[in-house]
Amino acid sequence: MKFKKKILCIGAGYVGAPSNVMIACKCPDYKVTVVDINPQRIDAWNSDNLPVYEPGLDEIVKKTRGKNLFFSTDIDNQIKENDIIFVCVNTPTKTFGTGAGMAADLQYWEKTARQILENSKSSKIVIEKSTLPIKTALAMERILASGKGDITFDVLSNPEFMAEGTAIHDLENPDRVLIGSRETPNGLAARAQLVEIYSRWVSPEKIITSNIWSAELSKLVANAFLAQRVSSINSISALCEKADADISEVARAVGMDSRIGSKFLKAGIGFGGSCFKKDILNLVYLCHFYGLPQVAAYWESVVKINEYQQERFITNILQSMFNTLAGKKICILGFAFKADTGDTRESPAINITRMLLAEHAEVVISDPKALGNAAVDLAHNEGRISYIEDPYQATAGCHALAIMTDWDLYRKLDYRKIYKSMIKPAFIFDGRNIIDQHKCFEIGFNVFPIGKPALTRL
Ligand code: NAD
Ligand code: UGA
Repeated sequence: MKFKKKILCIGAGYVGAPSNVMIACKCPDYKVTVVDINPQRIDAWNSDNLPVYEPGLDEIVKKTRGKNLFFSTDIDNQIKENDIIFVCVNTPTKTFGTGAGMAADLQYWEKTARQILENSKSSKIVIEKSTLPIKTALAMERILASGKGDITFDVLSNPEFMAEGTAIHDLENPDRVLIGSRETPNGLAARAQLVEIYSRWVSPEKIITSNIWSAELSKLVANAFLAQRVSSINSISALCEKADADISEVARAVGMDSRIGSKFLKAGIGFGGSCFKKDILNLVYLCHFYGLPQVAAYWESVVKINEYQQERFITNILQSMFNTLAGKKICILGFAFKADTGDTRESPAINITRMLLAEHAEVVISDPKALGNAAVDLAHNEGRISYIEDPYQATAGCHALAIMTDWDLYRKLDYRKIYKSMIKPAFIFDGRNIIDQHKCFEIGFNVFPIGKPALTRL
């Protein structure tokens, strides 16, 4: 079959693969190829056991794979063959040298830019989909312009706003698609080509265009604002616990103001995921770089409150359980950083488990999708850890359970049955405020919510 357009995605991770699977699904006349340096990942994308769990993803992959969607490790040849290239490689926080612990590590991204240059025999549109520091496109342009010959490259910024667990819904019904470009004739023409792709399923008023630096920065700022809301509500949850207010009631009252809105006001054990912390630290680094220490300190406080929320949670467990956890068995219900994903990157459950192990507690980890990743995250930790998917088996014989992930499953458990199988006095630390706390208290549990008075007989 002759395809109308050929699109390449470099980086088959949580963003690259689902976003390009969606393009393949919505544009059956386009050929979409997703490549990665990791052959195991590509094998998994070509198998029945996809490397990423997302509701609805399996169905779309099955519908399109082998027809107009392909997964491959042959990066060099695919660069040659495709004219539109999305770059979706990872951009983690730098762990070494200048900016360690804050700046973005751009080594994977730069390697890709050089590989595109080396293998291109015709002009291309190169699209930044990874989240990058402002002005990265300039560096990308300089690398791509360093070649000989008359091949040209137009660099666009098209950051991705999907969230894990709802990726397919978000990609199908985005609040907006943002496309930044140079405002030159070539830049505008490249931008128009990308607009045409999204126009297949996104309404025109939701496809917004901007200058390239605004697009790069908007992505960092959007994540910073979302994380800031979570830290804001979490900071108030600490005050609620001291002053007998209820954080859910406060969030409802505050969020009903249409100027504020109700989303991202759920107090919990702090935000996790591979991006919020990384992107805020990147923003903080940029502010320092541009000589704005006050602005940097403002955004850094969002990360500090997030750490504080996790420390508060563990202190609460320790103090409520008579200041000793040594030898006590504690079940972690949920290890993923949020519901409906197996992703555990920066999950608060990792730190909390480590802090429990440091207190010599015995930890049982339960999760419907994240046990494999949990075992990798905790592989180098000493202490007694076991992994049990079934929540009833996992909680049996425990002194306490700590709810870390807002899986719907945990709302619906038979807590009476669980209570019977636990050591008494039995404790629940509801890190997500998702269970019927009063009912659990009536059953016999001592219940410790976030941002609400504890329900305890002790
Ligand atoms: P990921 O680690 O899941 O995937 C990145 C992939 O790129 C990996 O499979 C890796 O092997 C591959 N890769 C690295 N270097 C490569 C190279 N030179 N050639 C080919 N493949 C290479 O990361 P992710 O979660 O998909 O995030 C990717 C980017 O998207 C990051 O910048 C992130 O900030 C951004 N982002 C992520 C999300 C999300 O929900 N995870 C949402 C929006 C934006
Ligand atoms: C987030 C953004 O929502 C996406 O728009 C963005 O594209 C993505 O980061 C990214 O750049 O990677 P994601 O991290 O997948 O998406 O998930 P969120 O739903 O934003 O949740 C992040 C964390 O905040 C989770 O740990 C979640 O449990 C926590 N959270 C969220 C709360 O504690 N309370 C809330 O009210 C909302």
